[in-house]
Amino acid sequence: MLHDVEAVVLVGGKGTRLRPLTLSAPKPMLPTAGVPFLAHLLSRIRAAGVRRVVLGTSYLAETFSEAFGDGAALGLEIEYVVEDQPLGTGGGIRNVAKHLSTEHVLVFNGDVLCGTDLGAVVDTHRRTEADVTLHLVRVQDPRAYGCVPTDDHGRVLEFLEKTEDPPTDQINAGCYVFRRSVIESIPEGRPVSVERETFPGLLAAGSRVSGHVDNAYWRDMGTPADLIHGSADLVRGVAPSAALPGPTGESLVLEGAQVAAGALVFGGTTVGRGVRIGAGARVEGSMLFDGAVVGEGAVVEHSVIGAGARVDHGARVDETVVGDRAVIGEHCELRHGMRIWPDVVLPPHGVRFSPDV
Ligand code: GTP
Repeated sequence: MLHDVEAVVLVGGKGTRLRPLTLSAPKPMLPTAGVPFLAHLLSRIRAAGVRRVVLGTSYLAETFSEAFGDGAALGLEIEYVVEDQPLGTGGGIRNVAKHLSTEHVLVFNGDVLCGTDLGAVVDTHRRTEADVTLHLVRVQDPRAYGCVPTDDHGRVLEFLEKTEDPPTDQINAGCYVFRRSVIESIPEGRPVSVERETFPGLLAAGSRVSGHVDNAYWRDMGTPADLIHGSADLVRGVAPSAALPGPTGESLVLEGAQVAAGALVFGGTTVGRGVRIGAGARVEGSMLFDGAVVGEGAVVEHSVIGAGARVDHGARVDETVVGDRAVIGEHCELRHGMRIWPDVVLPPHGVRFSPDV
């Protein structure tokens, strides 16, 4: 158990790829399978035995302390450190240095859903006497990520940010163990990217940087498609979490929600508090935020329906993000990556978007 390791979670990003959802809530606070996304990560950190967590916040900083307070409800001691100006990933880690006391520190990107054994990552770090250890996962298509080759002894050889011709399928999973003295060596008071500056700098200086590779469940929740998919994986139990507020299954229906007889709700859909789903509706693999309404016969697939938003009778919404309180009029059709901004009202039959038409 990791009683002698503190954790830092970086949650200061603006989450631009998830707009408009992140206009009103930071990415780690988006409701995901019934709780803020960060609650899933914090529950994993707690289950590994870590007791104290420092959150590096910036964008909409107060929403974190309002939700998690001192952390006691999660069995944690949580401290919040706010960046007035976003300092990037490395700058964010440096900014919390004086709030840390353990020799080794676990550091997390606050938007990664992962099932890795954190104790095993720390074991690799200690066994290899590393300055920094990175959790690396193997993915089918590494091109969109930071690619990290290692040698036969697990030593990191280089960092290749988003390359077209990756030499390995191992990517940076956004979870690290740092020796605290390394955190203190990051330049202070200016933006620093840990991926582009700190890690390459450590390698150039001959520091020991280890990779801990595994095949654990892993998903970066940075885009709408990944958020929706990851949420469904949590609901169905494909992605492990102790914070799920109900049994795993085809759907997670929260209190006060009404699902009419004959409506089909499946594929890991979350039905938020006070949501109403009409008869004959079909909702697959989607996130319905609190107070959303899906009308009779409407179809919602792999989409997010924002808080208080409406998808009216017979409308069809597929791979789409509908902002809070927006209205999708009867028989509108929205497909393939559309985003509707909060409070927008689409009149009945008003929009029909489909590459087939
Ligand atoms: P995009 O704008 O969509 O790229 O999202 P993002 O702003 O969250 O950036 P990214 O996904 O690259 O960030 C990875 C993690 O680092 C997330 O958990 C962010 O919250 C966090 N992060 C990014 N920038 C900062 C920062 O300046 N300060 C702090 N404290 N955290 C940050």
